[in-house]
Amino acid sequence: MSASNKDSDQVAANALSADFVEKAVAAALAAFDSAKTLEELKAARLAHAGDKSPIALSNREIGALPPAAKADAGARIGKARAQINDALKVREEVLLNEEESRMLAHEQVDVSLAAQTAPRGARHPLSLIMERAEDVFVAMGWDIVDGPELEAEWYNFDALNIGPNHPARSMQDTFFVAPEDSHLVLRTHTSPVQARTMLTRKPPIYIAAPGKVFRTDELDATHSPAFHQIEGLAIDKGLTMAHLRGTLEHFAKIMFGDEAKIRLRPSFFPFTEPSAELDLWFPAAKGGAKWIEWGGCGMVNPLVLQACGIDSNEYSGFAFGMGIERTLMFRHTVTDMRDMVEGDIRFSRQFGMDV
Ligand code: DAH
Repeated sequence: MSASNKDSDQVAANALSADFVEKAVAAALAAFDSAKTLEELKAARLAHAGDKSPIALSNREIGALPPAAKADAGARIGKARAQINDALKVREEVLLNEEESRMLAHEQVDVSLAAQTAPRGARHPLSLIMERAEDVFVAMGWDIVDGPELEAEWYNFDALNIGPNHPARSMQDTFFVAPEDSHLVLRTHTSPVQARTMLTRKPPIYIAAPGKVFRTDELDATHSPAFHQIEGLAIDKGLTMAHLRGTLEHFAKIMFGDEAKIRLRPSFFPFTEPSAELDLWFPAAKGGAKWIEWGGCGMVNPLVLQACGIDSNEYSGFAFGMGIERTLMFRHTVTDMRDMVEGDIRFSRQFGMDV
């Protein structure tokens, strides 16, 4: 046998001594007691109750004893191990409780504190007023239709009897879309929706088409390169200017109150004949009731009906269009167009949820 083996035999024999076991228990209890966290207790457990701990060594040595001595050593070591394990359990319980209390104290919620809520958004008044306008026409049984903002030149101009040399077609008004031979424009009004509708639906037609339109204007207090219009179109047998007038007066009263009324002044648009400027008598105007220019209208030009495949001998129709921003501006005395496009929530909030 080598010297080292002899040494280990010595340790093994000692490991079963009462003194060794007592010390192992005392050291374990002291280590558990001084562990201040579960982490420290884990280290103490490995050192004093783990496979390599003194008491485990004692336990292993029982196997090497002669049978007669096994029972006594087994009882002694078993008791010592139970003592160690019990102490470990007790300490673990204490530390777990401590940790839980710490967490509860740390994660305490003060329910009396003011809640941090995300600020609420607000619908844009332009959306609200457009919806209100749509509702008026839906209530009369009209359909609401959409058209593309990127529009074929033909729908925006030609179909509406706006010839190639008409001033409205000039580069100063229209955003043309490259390349030149695409013949696409950003629609300058909602009137092309009239042509699209007549080409795809059979009369009778009653539609309103709200939407965005574009012109090459600089943004200032009264202009914006992008704004909104609402277009109306009715095609049926026997429609006259009287129907147009009645429809617009009804629209005006719902939008501006029972005292509102309208007047038509002779005018010119290539796509209507006769054509009229539409003025609104606005009783609630700031500074007193007055007439306000609201939009354009007229009887659909037979040339437009024909271009869109509708027999102008059988059918007639009326049409109108007005600016939504303008409508909002005088209805609510908004004096600067820029307030409507900047998207500042404080502006929208002033209108609440009902315009
Ligand atoms: N499209 C015209 C514009 O943007 C407005 C307009 C006038 C529309 C007469 C119509 C109409 O439907 O009949 O100025």
